[in-house]
Amino acid sequence: VSVPMRGPRPDVAVIGGSGFYAFFDGGTESVDIATPYGATSASIALGEVGGRRTAFLPRHGANHEHAPHTVPYRANMWALRSLGVRQVLAPCAAGSLTPDLARGTVVVPDQLVDRTSGRTQTYFDGGAVHVQFADPYCPSLRAAALQPGTVDGGAMVVVEGPRFSTRAESRWFAAQGWSLVNMTGHPEAVLARELEMCYATMALITDLDAGVAVGEGVRASEVFAEFERNIGPFKDLVRSSVAAAPKATECAHCRVHEGVTLPIELP
Ligand code: ADE
Repeated sequence: VSVPMRGPRPDVAVIGGSGFYAFFDGGTESVDIATPYGATSASIALGEVGGRRTAFLPRHGANHEHAPHTVPYRANMWALRSLGVRQVLAPCAAGSLTPDLARGTVVVPDQLVDRTSGRTQTYFDGGAVHVQFADPYCPSLRAAALQPGTVDGGAMVVVEGPRFSTRAESRWFAAQGWSLVNMTGHPEAVLARELEMCYATMALITDLDAGVAVGEGVRASEVFAEFERNIGPFKDLVRSSVAAAPKATECAHCRVHEGVTLPIELP
């Protein structure tokens, strides 16, 4: 079922992670987009942030119905792109792999390591389409997300979940020089790239992962509680980032297709 959009098109979107289920204070429109990949995680809300028409989609659903490995990533990204979105900011929770990144810190990663398995990470099942992904995040959108107090850079390893990592896995990640760990940053980032949407992550550190922490390891309750403690200021950071995002819909870094037909009808 599709609920059509009445107001102006959004060109920027925010995808909220665990604990981030609403973004606008009111005056919003809600749309449901049917996609060839099924339904999105939730209805998409449309509102204004810093004078820009903005879309908001809670990744795990309005009531956290979707686990990290069951999020309909392809439907979500396809739906946003079909509304006209060209920039996606993805705030999320992440565990720290280094004592240098304390709880409550917001990191804007510059690299990603895919340790997921069995998640479909492409729209292109036929033909020779291989997008560039050496730098998985858009440099311009990262610059907008680098608000005062945020940490610039770091490799985020995305694990399959929904379990947390073992101590040995976590120590191994840290030994590689990777600095944070999460369960949802992939395949979202590459699907954005395939649809030529600029994409950047803002990761709120909610816990020290098993290899860093002294004690028995991460608990989900700890992650949610820490997220809850920081959600107000974190949303403010995301709002400032949306407002700071460049208006240009052209991005030399993220426009990767030459002579390739996108698997989508462009608005
Ligand atoms: N999300 C938040 N904390 C995490 C952790 N320690 N590992 C994986 N994903 C996380």
